[in-house]
Order: sequence, then structure tokens, then C-alpha cells
Amino acid sequence: MRSIINEMKLRLPAISVNEGVARSAISAFVAELDPTVEELGDIRLAVSEAVTNAIVHAYRDLPRGEVGNVYISVRLYDTREVSVEISDNGCGIENVEEAMRPAFTTGEGTERSGMGFLVMESFTDTLSVKSKLGRGTTVLMRKYLKSLPEGEE
Ligand SMILES: Nc1ncnc2c1ncn2[C@@H]1O[C@H](COP(=O)(O)OP(=O)(O)O)[C@@H](O)[C@H]1O
Ligand SMILES: [Mg+2]
Repeated sequence: MRSIINEMKLRLPAISVNEGVARSAISAFVAELDPTVEELGDIRLAVSEAVTNAIVHAYRDLPRGEVGNVYISVRLYDTREVSVEISDNGCGIENVEEAMRPAFTTGEGTERSGMGFLVMESFTDTLSVKSKLGRGTTVLMRKYLKSLPEGEE
């Protein structure tokens, strides 16, 4: 049985500056497990994509002036597992399977590449996406960090 050694919950307004805030907060939190530079980079990339999606897509139908929230929950386990859950109360995704296909995007113009879910999948060990139309979306990612070298536990 694995047990939780630390837990962090954040609620941030879904505004673009908070992509960086979320990434930094999670980096600082995960540092306790002494991840490699590569592992930390992977987590930062995956988190950026998930938080950006909540900011860019989830609340696109909100009336002007209203701002939604992004909820982030991070857990560290004694087995060196990191779980990151990113959720929103936004519009939801009609067809999750289709949305996760590489290059699928509902974003307009050239700014969105449709590779967000692919990045989340590639840089973590497990990814699950749950979404309900009109209710919101939850992305759960797990990353298993390598064991520390002998004598550094
Ligand atoms: N949190 C979310 N809320 C609503 N729709 C989302 C959310 N995350 C992703 N999507 C949908 O899934 C599509 C694919 O996401 P992604 O792979 O990150 O590509 P991109 O963000 O570049 O469009 C988005 O274009 C959007 O339609
Ligand atoms: Mg995206």
C-alpha cells in the first residue's frame, strides 16, 4: 500500500498569467521528492498543457467579464509517485476520444496546435480525462519518479 506524504490544493482564476503560476507552484512542491531535471521538466510541460486548456477552452462561452476557476490538486506518495489533477467547471468536451487525437483542435487561427493531450500523454506515465458537457473537465496525470541513488533516500 502506498501512502500520501504531502498534498497541495490550489484554486486559481482561469487567466493566462496563472499558467506560469501553476507550473512554478507545482515545481516547488514536487522538489521535496528530489526529481531529476528531466522529470521535473516533464511534469512542468504536462501541467502547462492541462492548465492552458482550462484557461483557453473551458470557459470560452462565459459572458464577458466573468472568470472561471482552475482547480489543481497535487499528491506525493511514499512510492515516489506524483499525481496531478487539474479540473475546471467549464463547457466540457463533447467527444474526449476525438479531442485527444493528435492535431485535433477547436482553437481558431494558428495559435493552437492540437498537441496538448499528446504532450500530457508523452511526458507522464498515466493520463485520464473525464469530461461532462456543460459541467467541466478533469485531467488526472501520474508520474513515477525514478528511485534515488543508494544512500540518498
Ligand atoms: N479543459 C477543457 N475544456 C474544454 N475543452 C477542452 C479542454 N481541454 C481540451 N479541450 C478540447 O480539446 C481540444 C484538444 O486539446 P489540445 O490537445 O490541448 O489542443 P489545443 O489546446 O491546441 O486545441 C481543444 O481544442 C478543445 O476543443
Ligand atoms: Mg491545449
